[in-house]
Amino acid sequence: MNSNQDLHNKRQQVIAQGMGALYPLYVKKAENAIVWDIEDNQYIDFAAGIAVNNTGHSHPRITEAVKAQLDQFSHTCAMVTPYSSFVELAEKLTQLAPGDSEKKAVFLTTGAEAVENAIKIARAHTKRSGVIAFKGGFHGRTNMTMGLTGKVAPYKAGFGPFPNEIYHAPYPNAYHGISIDDSLNAIDDLFSCDIEPNRVAAIIFEPVQGEGGFYQAPPEFAQRVRELCDQHGIVLIADEIQTGFARTGKLFATEYLGIEPDLMTMAKGIAGGFPISAVVGKANVMDAALPGGLGGTYAGSPLGCVAGLEVLKIIEEEQLCRKALDIGEIVSAKLDTIRTKVDSIGDVRTLGAMIAIEFSDPMSGKPLPELTKTVISKAQEAGLILLSCGMKGNVIRLLPPLTIETEVLNEGLNKLESILLDCINS
Ligand SMILES: Cc1ncc(COP(=O)(O)O)c(C=O)c1O
Repeated sequence: MNSNQDLHNKRQQVIAQGMGALYPLYVKKAENAIVWDIEDNQYIDFAAGIAVNNTGHSHPRITEAVKAQLDQFSHTCAMVTPYSSFVELAEKLTQLAPGDSEKKAVFLTTGAEAVENAIKIARAHTKRSGVIAFKGGFHGRTNMTMGLTGKVAPYKAGFGPFPNEIYHAPYPNAYHGISIDDSLNAIDDLFSCDIEPNRVAAIIFEPVQGEGGFYQAPPEFAQRVRELCDQHGIVLIADEIQTGFARTGKLFATEYLGIEPDLMTMAKGIAGGFPISAVVGKANVMDAALPGGLGGTYAGSPLGCVAGLEVLKIIEEEQLCRKALDIGEIVSAKLDTIRTKVDSIGDVRTLGAMIAIEFSDPMSGKPLPELTKTVISKAQEAGLILLSCGMKGNVIRLLPPLTIETEVLNEGLNKLESILLDCINS
């Protein structure tokens, strides 16, 4: 039998280093919030495949639906000979997306593809080229989405040139002293210095910046950006790829903001681990692209569609929005206690089960990325899977499955406490 280390050594030889590896552990099995590696070590999973397994690993209903689909067929290409689940999932998502406007959907395969297609649709609709995104934002690893991403290392470093006509504004961030006005004034500056508003096709934002460090967009900011878009005929795109599907305590985080975006991108939690993504938006905008201009060979795969339909039923029947809020409360209470003992926790941010711990030096306020790395590496020994994020790499993000049992959540939090105490005492 291979050990984790054997496989890891082999991996280093055959997988390009650009595809990072946070943990040298190789998974044998995963069930709800527990992952077992090939050496039978057991881990509590606070990463959920980066906010994908909101419904837990191997949810029996998703497994059953996908197996039943496999017994029928696995692929025909939805653009050639479609199937009912493709239409049913679109019907459900267009009903559930926030706002009263009539909506349509298109399916793709990955998050980055959803963002690429949202930009294509916005450009076709407006017949304009410019796009405004935000510093610290993350939208994917394709050329357009790298361009939109507002973090250089490791996502953009060495990979240019990026598509032109992309501009970045600061994202409001109370903890780091960036006000809503700072952010909107910077957009105004872009309109004066870089691109006139009637050449801007879209403004794209994350309701909570994910990779950037789990900073939440204040409702007033979203509403003022909405007004700006209405004033200038700009398409507003909410990238809900990390925030969607009950993660924040609402089906979509945009619901906290009191706006209806023109387009939304969805992926990750949409289908419990089956690769499918979507753009859902106002029908008149969505219909701007010519037939054949959107899609892809695997776009809207039948396995993804049946899994997606099951995910939506599970979210409703198992009340996963409620559970996300409960998780947020339990974790916040525990982190309040931990903070009294660990003064390098500069900030804790919680929106449902999207939780960030930001480490900074208590005296100077400087970010502590090394501490974050140590916490991540100690987590494996302690039987916990954690993720980092943040522009300065000094944030731990907690994204447990929303189906996690309370005892398992508490056990994971106790592990986290021991790791943090160990880090500051060593
Ligand atoms: C907000 C956001 N947009 C886009 C993406 C890209 O998705 P994918 O990795 O599936 O291409 C991600 C992935 O982390 C994300 O968090």
